[in-house]
Order: sequence, then structure tokens, then C-alpha cells
Amino acid sequence: MARTMLLRKPIESVLLLVNIRQLLTLSSPAKGPRRGRDLRDLGLIEDGAVLSVGGKIVSVGATKDALRDSWLRKNRWKVREIDCKDKVVLPGFVDSHTHPAFTAPRLVDFEQRIAGATYEQIAEAGGGIRSSVEGVRQASRSALAEHVLGGFDAMLAQGTTTVEAKSGYGLNLDAELKSLEAIRDAARQWPGTVVSTLLGAHAVPREYEGREHKYVRIVCHEMVPRAAEGKLARFVDVFCDRGAFSPESAEHIFLAAREHGLGVRAHVCQLSHCEIAPLLKYDPASLDHLDHVSDDDIAALAAQSTMSPAYQTVATLVPGSNYFLGLGRFPDARRMIDSGVPVALATDYNPGTSPTASMPFVLSLACTHMKMTPAEAIAAATINGAHALRLAERKGSIEPGKDADLAIFDVADYREIPYWIAGDRCAAVIVAGVGNVAG
Ligand code: NIG
Ligand code: FE
Repeated sequence: MARTMLLRKPIESVLLLVNIRQLLTLSSPAKGPRRGRDLRDLGLIEDGAVLSVGGKIVSVGATKDALRDSWLRKNRWKVREIDCKDKVVLPGFVDSHTHPAFTAPRLVDFEQRIAGATYEQIAEAGGGIRSSVEGVRQASRSALAEHVLGGFDAMLAQGTTTVEAKSGYGLNLDAELKSLEAIRDAARQWPGTVVSTLLGAHAVPREYEGREHKYVRIVCHEMVPRAAEGKLARFVDVFCDRGAFSPESAEHIFLAAREHGLGVRAHVCQLSHCEIAPLLKYDPASLDHLDHVSDDDIAALAAQSTMSPAYQTVATLVPGSNYFLGLGRFPDARRMIDSGVPVALATDYNPGTSPTASMPFVLSLACTHMKMTPAEAIAAATINGAHALRLAERKGSIEPGKDADLAIFDVADYREIPYWIAGDRCAAVIVAGVGNVAG
């Protein structure tokens, strides 16, 4: 971590942030994931203040009102106060799609792509996801946990306080469970919140080449039950695409997940189109990538607005992967948002397509390459990320009762967060009111 320093404060600490130039509360009367124009509503308060007690937000408002509060005046001595003059405070980013359980960068793939090979050609020739498997299978659980924690720390330094973390480079029962355990071990040492996902169906491993069905049986009958039994995962994911798993396999995996009480999400339409309506029957929390969606897919996602938020599906876009693969084409965020699809943004942190832990960089890509406004990008990276993890009752906005997970940026205007490319402007993060503050 570059400039942040962990101060482990007792959970009962009282924290007051004052003089915040722009406080982005993300609070809104809209229920459920933000769609259409609601995605631009940042709930901005100028010269704002936030009070948190015991890791929960207690009040949010103008600094002058906070300082007049009689309880605060009497108890000022026990309050840790942070002056946020000339700074922007927003909810810590919710990075709702990452793959941190790997051991090494994929530099051969990188150079092959520079020389003109595509992601699919590299995978077919034996590179790609499968070339990360040996390292994970051979790593000890503690060594793998160190790698995962390194990823989490890099995210925290850029303002991320909640992260979804997938397995997916083990591709056999033992190595997938070891990956989930490593994620859990790392999560226990990290101050933020981690949501784990089993991605046993990331690629068909070499030993099952040409036998997708057999491997899917292992995912359904061994990995999913063991992950559920050990409470090692909250979600099950599947890479459903050309050269990966078929929509039929995805449905089998979703059924197994449901049978074992786990939620579902999927990588879809990254490389080619597949119809998403059949997958929506399983109420996925999120469908991710969506580079090749049809009008029908967009209509199906938009039509969910009247359903309970617990059943709605968020479209999570990961432009870091388009950028790193050198693609000219990016997901059509504008069409999705304008049609009423709830869009989230995530890093997709992984060694093959998106080796970045930086949500501000992803926001920047969203603005420059997908024509999202800075306000839309921030809402997509906070409150909609929380909905994509079904955690919006605790995360994603700064409102009384929610976890005090805050990011403090050293900028005078929120639009500077995506504006300064690779700008490293995150000055501090507060995690459940006890987190770290820049020195
Ligand atoms: O989201 N597409 C599938 N999974 C990752 C890539 C994983 C890898 O290449 O290692 C993604 O882009
Ligand atoms: Fe991914």
C-alpha cells in the first residue's frame, strides 16, 4: 500500500469527519439497484460531515449542523475527528468482480498479444486461464493467501473496502477448496469485507479436455456441495462463453448452487453472444462482461425493475479487460443505462485480462471509453456494486445504519477521480469506522 497506514482502533471508537468539500452519500429514495437517471444521483452534500460509532454510520449532514449537535459537544473529547477540508468523501468502492487467487503474472500471454495473438488463440494454444493452474495447484495455502492479501491491499490503497473474490485457477476439488480457504485466510487479515465465489467452472482443465460434461459433474456434485458445507463461498460463478462452458452447463451449475443454498452469478457474452434470458430464471445477482448483448437481453434486464431487489440482476461491466486485451470495442454502457439496465463497474482483477486493482482507473475507462458520466461511474462502483453482491443493506452508500466504509480522495471535485488517469489520489480509507488514515 502506498500512502495508507492501518490504525486498528477499537470497534467502539467514535469517528467524525468534518469540513468535507463534497460528501457523496449515494443516498436516494430509489429502491433497488440504480437505473437510468437515478444512476446520476450522488446525494451530494457540500461542506458535509459524517459521524460513525462502533463501525456504523450514525449521522450524515452539513458540518455546521454536526458541530451544533449537543451530544457531540458534550462528548467531543472521545471523538476522533478528521478534517476533510478540500477533499471528497464517498462510500468505499465495492469491487464486485475479482480473481485474486493466482500466483504469478502471465507475461507470455502479454507478449503474445502484443505480437498479435488474440485471447482465444492464446487459450487454445495452451496459454490463458489454464496456464495459471499449475502455480495454484502447487502453492501452499498460506503462500496463496499471501498473494490474495497482496491483491486486497492494493485494492484498499485505491479506495476499495468491499471486494468479491473468486477461486477459479485450481480447477480440481482440492485446489478450488484451497483457493477459497486462502481467500478466507486473507480476508481474516484484511480490514475490509470479502465475499467469496466458487468459480470451479472457469475453464475445462487439461485432464478433462473434450469432456466438459464430466468436469461439470465434478463442479456440481463435489465442488459446490463442499464449498457450501464449509461455508467457503456465498456465490457460484461460471464462465459461459465460446470456448468455455455452454449455457446448458451453466444451468446445471446454477441448479446445483441453488440446491445448496448458494447465490449465482456468471461471466457472459465476453467473447460471443449467448442468450441470457434462460439464466435469468435463476435470479443471478449479476451477469458480467456483456460485450455482446442483444436488444432482447437488454430488455430482459431492464424489465426486472419492478421485482424485489433480492431477485434483480445487475449488469457488471469490466472495461479493464477490454483495455488490457487491446480491444477497440467496449461494452455498450450507454445503451444499457439509457434502456434502464442497472450497471455496476468492477476491476475483474486477474492475471490474464485485467491486472489492475484500481477502481479509479476503471472509472476513468468507463468515462472515456464507455461514455458514462463521472457521477454514473461512481454510483456504478459503489451502490450498484453493493447490489451486485446483494449487500446493499450494509454497503454502497453513506447513510445511518450502514457500515462506515469510506474513501477520502485528495481532490476538490468528484469528477477528478476518473479525470486523473492512474492518479493515486486516494488519501485514506475508513473501514467500518476503525480503518486506516493517511499519515
Ligand atoms: O473475467 N473470462 C474469464 N475470466 C477472466 C479472465 C481470466 C484469465 O484470463 O485468467 C475474465 O476476463
Ligand atoms: Fe472475470
